[in-house]
Amino acid sequence: MKVLVLNGPNLGTLGRREPEVYGHRTLADLETLLAGRARGLSIELLCLQSNHEGQLIDWIEKEGAQSDAIIINPGALSHSSLALADALRGSGKPVVEVHISNVFAREPERHRMVTAAAAKALISGLGFEGYLAALNFLATLPG
Ligand code: DQA
Repeated sequence: MKVLVLNGPNLGTLGRREPEVYGHRTLADLETLLAGRARGLSIELLCLQSNHEGQLIDWIEKEGAQSDAIIINPGALSHSSLALADALRGSGKPVVEVHISNVFAREPERHRMVTAAAAKALISGLGFEGYLAALNFLATLPG
């Protein structure tokens, strides 16, 4: 199984960005953690991060087509991007959307979930553990 892991805007600054919300660990720490779990589950991973909506859509089109499933944290695009939701839906692949923080415990603007409507599942508030839970879940899907 091959899984595409996408992180959207501002997730490249994890560790420095609002550590009281997102913690002190970096995106590189997250990707190392995921690589370890993926090895144990015999999953091949491709991890990519971009601050740009169009780049994320291009990766969903190109890399998503070569993958069996997608894990995505779209950052703030989660609350607004119909284009990203359309790309995820169009991929035809099982998608798990992950948020480090519990968006429903935050400002009302973050309660509007646009891209999650295109996902099979939504995990919010488990910190980095949410990405691991997503991988564990995807590993249970029939190949
Ligand atoms: C986030 C939550 C979003 O509301 C926010 O814009 C982010 C990070 C999270 O992982 O908790 O950039 O997606």
